[in-house]
Amino acid sequence: MSRTYRIAPSLLAADFARLGEEVRAVVAGGADWLHFDVMDNHYVPNLTFGPMVCQALRKHCTVPIDVHLMVQPVDALATAFAKAGADLISFHPDASTHVDRTLQLIRGEGCQAGLVFNPAAPLDVLEWVIDKVDLVLVMSVNPGFGGQSFIDSALRKVERARRLIEASGRDIRLEVDGGIKVDNIRRVADAGADTFVAGSAIFGQPDYKGVIDAMRRALA
Ligand code: DX5
Ligand code: ZN
Repeated sequence: MSRTYRIAPSLLAADFARLGEEVRAVVAGGADWLHFDVMDNHYVPNLTFGPMVCQALRKHCTVPIDVHLMVQPVDALATAFAKAGADLISFHPDASTHVDRTLQLIRGEGCQAGLVFNPAAPLDVLEWVIDKVDLVLVMSVNPGFGGQSFIDSALRKVERARRLIEASGRDIRLEVDGGIKVDNIRRVADAGADTFVAGSAIFGQPDYKGVIDAMRRALA
C-alpha cells in the first residue's frame, strides 16, 4: 500500500515568544501537519499550552493541527481543542477511564481520533477500538519533553502496529513521535511509519525548509 509521508513539526520546540511567526514559517517551510503538544503537569511533568493558544494559532496555520494530549482526564480538553480548531486529537489510553467513549467524543466533534502509545505501553487496546481510530501514534521517547534520544524498541512496535493496521483494512495513519532526525527517519519509515513528528530537529534550526526537504529526500 503506497503511503504518502507526512512531516509534522512539533510546536514544543518553537520559540514560545513568537508562536504565530513560527507557525507561518514552518508551514511555509513545507510542514504537512502542525504537531501541538499539550501537557498539563499532571499526566506528564511539564506544562505547555491550552485551547486558547490553539484558537489563536488556527488563523496562522493552513495545515491540519495534530493535537497530542498528554493530559489526564482527557474528555473536557479534547472537546475544548475540537472547538478551538484542532483537526486531529490523540490521547494516551491510560489517561482516559473510558477509551472507547473518548474516541467517540472526539469523532463526534468532527475531528479525527488517535491513540498514543508510550514506550512501555502495549498496543492491545487497538484490538477492541481499531474501528474508531484514525491515527496511531507510537512514542519513541517518554512523553513530556523535546530533545530526547530515540528509543529503538519503538521500531518493533511500529512494525507491529503496521501489521495491525494492514489487517484491519482501514485507512489509519501511523505516526511516530520523539527523537526523529534526518538521519533516522528512513529507518522509522522502513518499520512502517507514514507520519513523523519532529521538534528539535526542525525548530531551532536556521532553515526549516532545508531540514524538511532533507527529511523528504531521506524518505524518497
Ligand atoms: C514529547 C512530545 C514530542 C516532542 C518531540 O512529549 O510528544 O512531540 O515534542 O520533540 P523532539 O522531536 O525534539 O524529540
Ligand atoms: Zn507529541
